Amino acid sequence: MNVVIDRDLCIGCGICEQSCPETFRMGEDGLAYVIESDPPVEEYSDVQGCAEMCPTAAIAVTAE
Ligand code: F3S
Repeated sequence: MNVVIDRDLCIGCGICEQSCPETFRMGEDGLAYVIESDPPVEEYSDVQGCAEMCPTAAIAVTAE
């Protein structure tokens, strides 16, 4: 799995950090960034859920 955030799309709602704190973190600029771009298998469904919950679809998850 590879996880990226398009920070041009992020509006800083914080849902990703709240739901997946092992994967996402809010930066001092108020936008989220990825702290674990290749999360462990057991977190895949949670991370996928975060991507779907992001209101601006800023989180992209690929299978690689
Ligand atoms: Fe930003 Fe979406 Fe997270 S708007 S703070 S990447 S849920």
